[in-house]
Amino acid sequence: MESDGFILIRHKGGRRKKKINKGGIKPQLNTTQSAISSDEVNIDGRVGIEEINKSKETFISDDFYKTFSTLLQLSFKKAGIDKDNINSIICYGLGKFTESRSSFMQLVLLLCLQEELKLNIFIFDPLFNPLECELLELLGCDLLTANEEGKRRALTKTLFYMPHCGKGLYNNLLYSNWSPEDLQNVIVIGNSFSLMAESVCSNRKLKLIYNYLVSAERIVSEYKVTNSFQSVDVFNDMSIHTFCSESLQCAPKAIWNNKVVPVYDSTDMEVITLEMQEKLSLHLPGRKE
Ligand SMILES: C[S@@+](CC[C@H](N)C(=O)[O-])C[C@H]1O[C@@H](n2cnc3c(N)ncnc32)[C@H](O)[C@@H]1O
Repeated sequence: MESDGFILIRHKGGRRKKKINKGGIKPQLNTTQSAISSDEVNIDGRVGIEEINKSKETFISDDFYKTFSTLLQLSFKKAGIDKDNINSIICYGLGKFTESRSSFMQLVLLLCLQEELKLNIFIFDPLFNPLECELLELLGCDLLTANEEGKRRALTKTLFYMPHCGKGLYNNLLYSNWSPEDLQNVIVIGNSFSLMAESVCSNRKLKLIYNYLVSAERIVSEYKVTNSFQSVDVFNDMSIHTFCSESLQCAPKAIWNNKVVPVYDSTDMEVITLEMQEKLSLHLPGRKE
């Protein structure tokens, strides 16, 4: 940490080609680097608390955020959610925000949400480096030290912020909360469930693997976020998902049967499991090395 409160980020040479990230990565198993988000952009020089706070100030008065915030309130109203009853924000899959402009702006949205809803943030991404962990702590976020693989049970109302995560992470979250009692506590801001379900529907095997995402279509209320942000690949395909108790109670009883643990292809790295994390010797967030 520098004396002026900034953290010096090593400059990594030339700009890389920007790719549109529609959620889900398929990195190779052989290098750690390959598991990094595909839209890396070097943030020149220094990233510090001041830069994050400045971006937050601009972002909060941007039309994109105003529209987003209105949609969020509407989704809460329709599902009968009182924002004061939300317990916390859990953030998975933010990515390397000191290297990726998308992740950086997604962090800014997360902090705006925190300010608006007055909630604690608990955050995890197996790719966070020690500098990112330090910055997040300075921003008042709590780092989750265990890789939950998205399988957190929502015993109280919880807002899950999961921008551009792999399908498996959403599928795991749904699996862990697959009952009317738990699902009504789940709010997800992340990739559109309907688009992800559509993408697997023509393949019988994938349809079975992502069974929870596919079945959720019948019980979820999805509000598509208007992608009016200046960069089209930061909040694309994003939706707000809620589960209202009425739809959950009306769902056919059979939907809750045969709850089985999702198993993914071992070469599929959409979700970095604890086992993969250990194999790749990834830095464990929260542990300073
Ligand atoms: C496609 S990238 C998205 C990164 C960033 N949000 C963006 O839009 O560019 C998916 C992210 O999910 C993270 N991820 C994978 N497995 C995870 C897990 N078990 N828990 C939390 N995050 C995970 C990856 O490390 C990666 O940063």
